[in-house]
Amino acid sequence: MIVRPRRLRQTPVIRNMVAETHLSPDMLVYPVFIREGHGIVEDIPSLPGQKRYSPDTFPRALEAMNAAGVSSVLLFGLPEHKDEVGTGAWEENGVIQQSLRIGKKEFPHLNFIGDVCMCEYTSHGHCGILHGEEVDNDETLEYLTRIAVSQAAAGADIVAPSDMMDGHVAAIRAGLDKAGMKNKIIFSYAVKYASVFYGPFRDAAGSAPSFGDRRAYQMDPRNVREGLKEAEIDIEEGADLVMVKPGLLYMDVLRAVKEISPVPVGTYCVSGEYAMIKAAAANGWIDEQRAVSEAAFSLARAGADVIITYSALDLAKWLRDGKISF
Ligand code: PBG
Repeated sequence: MIVRPRRLRQTPVIRNMVAETHLSPDMLVYPVFIREGHGIVEDIPSLPGQKRYSPDTFPRALEAMNAAGVSSVLLFGLPEHKDEVGTGAWEENGVIQQSLRIGKKEFPHLNFIGDVCMCEYTSHGHCGILHGEEVDNDETLEYLTRIAVSQAAAGADIVAPSDMMDGHVAAIRAGLDKAGMKNKIIFSYAVKYASVFYGPFRDAAGSAPSFGDRRAYQMDPRNVREGLKEAEIDIEEGADLVMVKPGLLYMDVLRAVKEISPVPVGTYCVSGEYAMIKAAAANGWIDEQRAVSEAAFSLARAGADVIITYSALDLAKWLRDGKISF
């Protein structure tokens, strides 16, 4: 035998030398939940290891990120009061706007990303303005723009619309530009599926719809060409980055989008994907560190330039301390 692939697998040093995929803490984004109130640092039962903060304690999360070497944070808000039109999402003193001002002041070098959606702020839990039982696409655009503009004005470097309305990137871009914020970045959840794997997030954020589901705006899990269409539209409308979500279950879509995208492609390893690994690890059925590492490297291998993950801090520390080996 002349050709023996096993020669390159003999030792960790050789394997590391020829590894095709690399992962850096710079690529990681850490999602954080912030609840209106004071002095709150509470566990999130559906997301073991994750905490909910209030705007005043939010800097503790940023400190932990900083210490771990993670520079990007994605913010989700839980308002005290919800209404039909999600006022808490765009008001000047909303929970996210307060948090952005506090966070940006204490950690100006970090990268703040605001999730732009209405479901955590509406009394009905849908991602837009309702007419009867239907989310009105075009009316919702005006509200999404308000949310994005208010977050950017409060200090967000990047806004990330996760609503899946048609035309959302164009509307938000126009709104930001009109408000004099032409350099604020749009990271669109362009290819977002109607997934059951958002379940633990909806418990964490209190954002489950009070009736029906999101299938009339989020994508059908059976489709991949439609995902390319969604990515293309958002890029054409001015998205600076696009995302495929969920991550682990949709790596084929991630790869396909990566192949056609002229802009960086991110992915979101979502709450249910995180919870599955956590639950298996808690039962002693899987090695958590190796499972999380394998998942993250697989997302990078599939084409992710940016990875949003609840394991960001752990991963960054393991990478730094040389704890990850294959
Ligand atoms: C808001 C939003 C959701 C997630 C991110 N942004 C929930 C949803 O669409 O129902 C899910 C993230 C996760 O599951 O980790 N629309």
